[in-house]
Amino acid sequence: MGLFNDILASDQTLFTDESVLDFDYVPPVVTSRDEEIRAIVSGIKPLFADRRPANLFITGTPGIGKTLAVKFVFNDLKQTSNEVVPCYINNWKCSTYHSVFVELSKFFGVPYPRKGVSTDEIIRGITKRIENKKGIVIVFDEIDKARTMDFIYPLIEGFGKKIGIILISNYNDFLKKIDSRLSSRLNIENLNFKQYSYDQVTSILKERVNYAFYPNVFNEDALNKIVDYSYENKDLRLGISLLLKSGRIAENNASKKIKIEHVDEAISSIKQNMFEQQANKLQEHEQAIVELLKLNNGCITGELYQKFLEKHKDVSIRTFRKYLNRLETLEFIKTEDTGTGFRGKSRRLYLK
Ligand SMILES: Nc1ncnc2c1ncn2[C@@H]1O[C@H](COP(=O)(O)OP(=O)(O)OP(=O)(O)O)[C@@H](O)[C@H]1O
Ligand SMILES: [Mg+2]
Repeated sequence: MGLFNDILASDQTLFTDESVLDFDYVPPVVTSRDEEIRAIVSGIKPLFADRRPANLFITGTPGIGKTLAVKFVFNDLKQTSNEVVPCYINNWKCSTYHSVFVELSKFFGVPYPRKGVSTDEIIRGITKRIENKKGIVIVFDEIDKARTMDFIYPLIEGFGKKIGIILISNYNDFLKKIDSRLSSRLNIENLNFKQYSYDQVTSILKERVNYAFYPNVFNEDALNKIVDYSYENKDLRLGISLLLKSGRIAENNASKKIKIEHVDEAISSIKQNMFEQQANKLQEHEQAIVELLKLNNGCITGELYQKFLEKHKDVSIRTFRKYLNRLETLEFIKTEDTGTGFRGKSRRLYLK
């Protein structure tokens, strides 16, 4: 008797709230980042006293809470005051000069700029709307994915001491690579996010489990496996994706418990999924190159270009190389010099 007690009925679920496992969910408490959050707040605070805020450069490896910390501070700022306007821009999504200003104008209800409207006009529109405010703080997340950083000049010039700029990147040395004129104008302070300890990863993931699932549905060894995997890969985002995925797999198997075999299955599918999700954000031509490389991994540039031309006739080799460079910057592909070809520059291309 009781053999079927652990079978989930089709209308039952293990989740109390799945949305808390979304990547952009901001939890009510951010554990273990007090110091970093305080640093961001102190950078912004001078604006309230009509003084120049600090510009910050936030670094740290993927999935370590950089975006979360800034969004947490911004949410708090929005609830406390409307004197300082926080704007969040992701430079993966808005990578060009114009798209940054189009995105910015949305925060201020400036009508969607038609083609031909100059940046100056957009800035004037925004300036008018913040005349009676203390200032604005703009975060440029994943700044290393921007195609240019020229959009920063008109912002510093247009808003003077009423603007705080926060740049976020995974690369500690990113600022060294940018134009020295820009880095000296920004006079930026570094804020590095350190790795979480094993105990910190454990408590953050356990807390998320409490928000997302009914009590006691996660087997202890299953949850421990997720904590271990997330800690070893130094990426909490992986851990959170695994909580969701394992829960869904358990549900699909009509299990009332999330077991280690569900976690194993989740781990094997998650890497592929993350790659596909990122690939969806690429432009059409860039996606086409990734698809071609799936079938022709390790081929040389010229060969891949010939295959690409079969469907995209008007793309020049120069533009094609530009796509390849961007795919390399975004870490979709890696390249290897073959030492042959024109000036020994032929490259072999691999998916990462
Ligand atoms: N201290 C924390 N408390 C609760 N959740 C956290 C904490 N740190 C990170 N997370 C969660 O881990 C995931 C990854 O965090 P986040 O997106 O902020 O990483 P990131 O450092 O911006 O990574 P990337 O460089 O890849 O953008 C998010 O789902 C976030 O909610
Ligand atoms: Mg981030």
